[in-house]
Amino acid sequence: MNQKTTRTYERFPLARRIEHIVMLLSFTTLGLTGLPQKFPTADISVSFVNLIGGIENLRSIHHFAAVVMMLGTAWHILVFGYLAYVRRTRMTMLPTLQDAKDGLQALLYNLGFAKNPPQMGRYTFEEKMEYWAFVWGAIVMGLTGFMMWNPITTIKFLPGEVIPAAKAAHGGEAVLAVLAIIIWHFYGVHIKKLNKSMFTGRMNEEDMLHEHPLELADIKAGIAERPVDPVTLRKRQRLYIPVAAVLTTFMLGGVYGFVNAEDTALETTQRIVPTIEVYVPQTATPAPTQTPTLPPTETPLPSPTMAGTEQPASVSAPTWDGSIGAMLQTKCGTCHGAGALGGLNLSTFADAMNGGNSGVVIVPGDGANSLIVVKQQAGGHPGQLAPEEITQLIEWINAGALEK
Ligand code: HEC
Repeated sequence: MNQKTTRTYERFPLARRIEHIVMLLSFTTLGLTGLPQKFPTADISVSFVNLIGGIENLRSIHHFAAVVMMLGTAWHILVFGYLAYVRRTRMTMLPTLQDAKDGLQALLYNLGFAKNPPQMGRYTFEEKMEYWAFVWGAIVMGLTGFMMWNPITTIKFLPGEVIPAAKAAHGGEAVLAVLAIIIWHFYGVHIKKLNKSMFTGRMNEEDMLHEHPLELADIKAGIAERPVDPVTLRKRQRLYIPVAAVLTTFMLGGVYGFVNAEDTALETTQRIVPTIEVYVPQTATPAPTQTPTLPPTETPLPSPTMAGTEQPASVSAPTWDGSIGAMLQTKCGTCHGAGALGGLNLSTFADAMNGGNSGVVIVPGDGANSLIVVKQQAGGHPGQLAPEEITQLIEWINAGALEK
């Protein structure tokens, strides 16, 4: 701590540091409450959801953190407007051709092909990439989040497919963002060089020389900040205040609409049908059961009254309980019992429908494309059914893969 011997330079004013902490907390909360929703069947997700007291609580916290992030973004836009219009600060965060050159230089230096690392200014190419990745992420997450939060409003303007697409994009971008923060940001900022300036607001001369030599040179030359004469400044401030007020109204209105445009599907369903189970971990999607075909009847058409008409007995298709379960347990049970090789357990109907490592293996109604059949027909599996057994299996699946 020989800070007193070296000069330090202001890097981030207090408002910026508060903004960073607000974003840090909301981002972390969003990640912690969002990932269990993306991976709902993972054990850790289930434990976490239980810890929080259920999926509804988790969603409320997620939504609250999202609002905090939206407000933080609105604030950032206002600050940007102020710096750009009133202070006419240099737009040091904009990417330039020099950043591409710096990136290349850094790569060559890291590989040992260049003698010196790139000399960078106020924001390095790495910092700019992170910043713009955050901007991009905020746009994607905001738009897709809106679609999921307000699906009915969304499909007034867009086709219904965008809702599941938004869900996929939201989850995918979330994983990308969390990994980028953990790998790129934590490593680059806090581990590689333990840069604390975003918390202390200042950076010492040695670090400045190392990280931002060109900015240091500008500061020393007195050209880092453009001087604004106080009269012009006050004039611009007077102009900016009403613009900012209008902008703020619009942005707050936007956030209000985001939150209140409609009740989300989960809540709405619950209110309409309070007993409905709205959160169930994913299981194989059952296909519509094929009704067993009736044998051609020679009997005359039933009397018009229909009274006392006997339905002809339907042809009984094989069922799990009837024969299929026992057959699979005998032939496959040694490996696909509790041991579940390939992730596949065939002990019970429910286990079998859960599938294995490749996903669902039984697609009701579609024997030919069910992995269990495909594997068996390919032959050479460590456990093989006889051809007539495969035929039975296909018949069972085609008839809807019924349990009873
Ligand atoms: C001697 C052990 C053994 C027996 C018996 C066996 N399997 Fe397998 N099975 C495996 C192994 C190991 C895997 C994982 C590697 C693979 O996918 O081939 C597997 C994978 C599978 C998969 C793919 C699961 C997935 O999701 O990737 C299916 C389907 C399957 N077995 C069906 C059967 C059926 C049906 C039987 C009974 C007729 C059977 N197996 C008997 C060892 C066995």
